[in-house]
Amino acid sequence: MTELRVTRLETSAVDAYLTVLNDAFLGQIPPAGLVRERAAFHARPGAHYGVFDGTELVGVAAAPTRPMTLPGGIVAQVSAVTSVAVSPSHRRRGVFATLVRHQLADLAEHGPVLSALWPSQGALYTRFGYAPATWQGPLVVRHGARLRPGVPIAEGRVRELPRQRAMAAIRELHDRIAPSHAGWLHRDDGHWTLLLEDPVGGAAPSDLRFALHDGGYLVYRVVPKVTPAGRRHELHIRDLAAVDTTVRAALWRHVLGLDLSGSVHFELSTPDEPVLHMLADPRAAEQAVRDGMWVRLADVPGALALRRYRTALSITFSVTDALLPGNAGLWRLVADESGKAVVERGSGEPDLALDVAELGAVYLGGTSLAALAAAGRVRARDPELLAVADAAFGHTPLPHCTIVF
Ligand SMILES: CC(C)(COP(=O)(O)OP(=O)(O)OC[C@H]1O[C@@H](n2cnc3c(N)ncnc32)[C@H](O)[C@@H]1OP(=O)(O)O)[C@@H](O)C(=O)NCCC(=O)NCCS
Repeated sequence: MTELRVTRLETSAVDAYLTVLNDAFLGQIPPAGLVRERAAFHARPGAHYGVFDGTELVGVAAAPTRPMTLPGGIVAQVSAVTSVAVSPSHRRRGVFATLVRHQLADLAEHGPVLSALWPSQGALYTRFGYAPATWQGPLVVRHGARLRPGVPIAEGRVRELPRQRAMAAIRELHDRIAPSHAGWLHRDDGHWTLLLEDPVGGAAPSDLRFALHDGGYLVYRVVPKVTPAGRRHELHIRDLAAVDTTVRAALWRHVLGLDLSGSVHFELSTPDEPVLHMLADPRAAEQAVRDGMWVRLADVPGALALRRYRTALSITFSVTDALLPGNAGLWRLVADESGKAVVERGSGEPDLALDVAELGAVYLGGTSLAALAAAGRVRARDPELLAVADAAFGHTPLPHCTIVF
């Protein structure tokens, strides 16, 4: 192997890019997925990286910039890393590590100030300063489960509409609701396609169903299931958005009451999903939460000054960062009553000591500093100040990413 070289890929490299990607995923990317990858490659010139061994492309990654809601309703550009792949012939020779290091250095120099991804394997990205920033997982609710008497439910009908008639209202609702949810990515046409694509490349009739209320919507897929007792189809929620919890309750009531179903599944639920507390019988629901979207700060002061904080805060902290030395050292963060913060170089004794990975974990407000301190990952001089910092960094509702990219 010659010395590895990382560059941004020209559009002419699209075929080589797709070959590396498909080979790395053992040829299992369906034709519709490859068509989508090709379109994304052309739609985002300069967003794809390649690692060359001589003239041979042996590793790839996509890092398009996408707007994400941060705590406080700020919408900021993040580098959304995806399609990371190394040719099977070049595994375990540092191609991936070279690629990630290069990409992070690029971000530190040119921005955006943070990067986000959904790792295929948990251990892959910890060594590069990424950490889980959202906690999400499947929630299964038994069909017919009732909401508690007295749960506020929005008035107005939930209507089921065909895709063509539903999509304009759904997109408008999504764009209206997204700024109030930390972690939500703003969607363009490509993201809607990715999210609402039917299997078999669109050849079969759509099995997605669209339920709409004036203040929210639910998109779900019917997974047919027939048992000796009859039809017990699984309803899998693909997308759910509501302007408030009363609309959310109306949507849940609708989907839980549909006939011929056995259960309702919500793949990317968060631990604070409101329906958990609305059910008359809490055991009608089962949830398994795990790490969701991971975050890495490429520019610590830039990223920390971008989001808002729930309370005023004045804190000095020391950071370690094995890859980006500009992040390391002492910082002082001062947030005012409005939640806006100034982050500058600090001095003296730090109140907190942590690695850049822990800052990624707490960045969206979904992981607590106290929990990390309990795990020995954050050192705090004063437990009370730790609690104050925790309150300032936290976010309600918990951050959530609605799409695995
Ligand atoms: C995962 C993948 C990108 C790793 O590429 P690679 O070039 O072989 O990785 P590297 O040689 O650069 O390894 C870097 C480090 O990650 C570790 N690592 C690599 N693959 C790993 C895996 N599957 N699980 C855990 N650790 C892994 C290596 O041991 C190495 O650790 P070290 O720094 O302590 O020595 C590659 O195997 C691949 O393309 N897999 C299929 C597609 C995929 O899963 N992509 C990830 C999408 S998020």
